[in-house]
Amino acid sequence: MGFLISLEGPDGCGKSTQIGYMKDFFANEGYEVVVAREPGGTKISEKIRDILLDTDNMDMDYRAEMFLYAAARAQLVHEVIKPALDAGKVVIMDRFVDSSAVYQGIARGLGVDTVYEINDIGLNGVAIDLTIHLDLPPDVGLSRKKSQHEMDRMELNGDDFHSKVAEGYRELAAKFPERIVTIDATKSVEEVRDDILEVIKRML
Ligand code: TMP
Repeated sequence: MGFLISLEGPDGCGKSTQIGYMKDFFANEGYEVVVAREPGGTKISEKIRDILLDTDNMDMDYRAEMFLYAAARAQLVHEVIKPALDAGKVVIMDRFVDSSAVYQGIARGLGVDTVYEINDIGLNGVAIDLTIHLDLPPDVGLSRKKSQHEMDRMELNGDDFHSKVAEGYRELAAKFPERIVTIDATKSVEEVRDDILEVIKRML
């Protein structure tokens, strides 16, 4: 069996940059690495991503939103994640089921247990080995995003929502200390990279 690592955190926490470093690290160590982002990562899941992030869909019901994220994830598990893990590869996820636990379960108020239960069907036995949580005050992340591109449907949620997300990740990390490692993402990109790689090396 392979190894599944997910990277999580509020919008604008710097996941993409760090995933590049993690990918290079594992490749240099001789591992076969697969990287995928959520929602997305397959043709069908990318179409669902478009629906989820489209600012035309501001009236989307929270439950419909939860199911769409879960559907995109089920397709990604089926097409990419499970086959890669079965082949012994390292899979690095740019967001995974904990994003639904925090955004839909905590910030939308649908409940963490409900979200894990719904997602369990699509995960089809896939379990996360390690989660890196990039901790950042929400206003810092959002202002980074605003300077990069137009805000999507999720980013357009108010400050209150994004505070709940940042706080929700801390709650989740406290709930699963054996799996989720929190890293201070207010540090420089290089310092965050070194902190992440130290956790990974310890785990290997
Ligand atoms: P991204 O900006 O990291 O690509 O993620 C897209 C947005 O979707 C981001 O605002 C977080 C949100 N999201 C959820 O609300 N639930 C989920 O399950 C996932 C994967 C992302």
